Amino acid sequence: MKVLIIGGGGREHAIAWKLAQSPKAGKIWCAPGNGGISEVAECVPVKATDLTGVLEFCKKNNPDLVVVAPDDPLMLGMVDMLQENGFRAFGPKKNAALIEGSKAFAKELMQKYDIPTAGYEVFDDQGEAFAYIKKNGAPIVVKADGLALGKGVTVAMTEEEAENAVKAAMEDGVFGSAGKKVVIEEYLTGPEVSVLCFTDGETLRLMPSAQDHKRAFDGDKGPNTGGMGAFSPSVNYTKEIEAQCMERIFLPTIRAMKAENRPFQGVLYFGLMLTSSGPKVIEYNARFGDPETQAVLTRMKSDLLDAMNAVVDGTLKDADISFSDDASCCVVMASGGYPVKYETGFPIGGISDARKTGAVIFHAGTKLEDGVYKTSGGRVLGVTATGKTAREAAEKAYEAVGGIRFDRMHYRRDIG
Ligand code: AMP
Ligand code: GLY
Repeated sequence: MKVLIIGGGGREHAIAWKLAQSPKAGKIWCAPGNGGISEVAECVPVKATDLTGVLEFCKKNNPDLVVVAPDDPLMLGMVDMLQENGFRAFGPKKNAALIEGSKAFAKELMQKYDIPTAGYEVFDDQGEAFAYIKKNGAPIVVKADGLALGKGVTVAMTEEEAENAVKAAMEDGVFGSAGKKVVIEEYLTGPEVSVLCFTDGETLRLMPSAQDHKRAFDGDKGPNTGGMGAFSPSVNYTKEIEAQCMERIFLPTIRAMKAENRPFQGVLYFGLMLTSSGPKVIEYNARFGDPETQAVLTRMKSDLLDAMNAVVDGTLKDADISFSDDASCCVVMASGGYPVKYETGFPIGGISDARKTGAVIFHAGTKLEDGVYKTSGGRVLGVTATGKTAREAAEKAYEAVGGIRFDRMHYRRDIG
């Protein structure tokens, strides 16, 4: 099968790496891809959000499957467009991707179908939002309704901070139209865990749990980032909690989407908080998470292409999907200054030696220039290793990290 992957980060490298291991995979393209992805796929210079460009490419090259990995093209309706033109596409249609694209939609869905989540209200009027903050007090959480590059959430420890977040979104427009509406919700506490599943709209098949590290610095300090590392499985997510989630969250969500005439096909990501009153949904994503994917797919034993085909064909119930009992750990190596201000273009050394440790080096922001990998983004590499235990996986990942060098590199030392 010829496969086109849309996207160009660490997540897409992990997807390409895993698909390339399938005996059924033939040619693999990635649009736009990155330096590392070019080792396993042909990178094509089409942007992930360029719907016309992707359609033109498909008409010319006839891929048998298009995997739409990032949120933006999903929300732009890339899967709808591809299917309308007769191409098989992996990922939810626009009306189902809304579960990530609008937090107000997701909250209303959970309320209607009694899926546990933080108490909330939705506002499109700043005065009313302020009054709600006054009434409920801090800590309180303010979320821009739409996609905001992972920056739309403020966990406010004071009322003033919450008001500033509302003002930034609604009056100053820092998130553009994504911030015209805000969700204000109850502050929850507890360990966080990410659970991804494949679903064809009827059946869901879980992947192992993972834990992301969002803050830039050790000890969960510093600004929020796209993710500085992940490990799998999460120690807090027991079989018992999984059973509760299945019954109260996972299956009800799939059924709710079907009942709303928005059947969800693709990967659905549950961002959960394990509170003292049970697991609650913090967010949904309509896609594989980054960097959770790097940690989870390195544990996948079965064929990813088979799983994706089963999702698209609606035959997930009978698909062979399995994961190893190993643990995994992905350490993100970033450009110094990320997520605020950073420089790129530095040569990266030591990758081939780092591989000798057995770690897999996924590229997030790199380009290949005259045979040399150079940094080209905030997150540069996702160094991922597996082991019998979490400790062994982390030690292996850090051994590989220790051999890699580029100017002003920055990584956390406490992943896993
Ligand atoms: P999100 O962008 O939705 O993943 O949110 C970013 C982070 O904000 C989450 O990973 C949580 O750590 C935190 N967060 C979101 N909602 C809440 C909440 N209701 N209570 C406490 N923390 C939250
Ligand atoms: N790691 C969180 C996300 O992909 O949104």
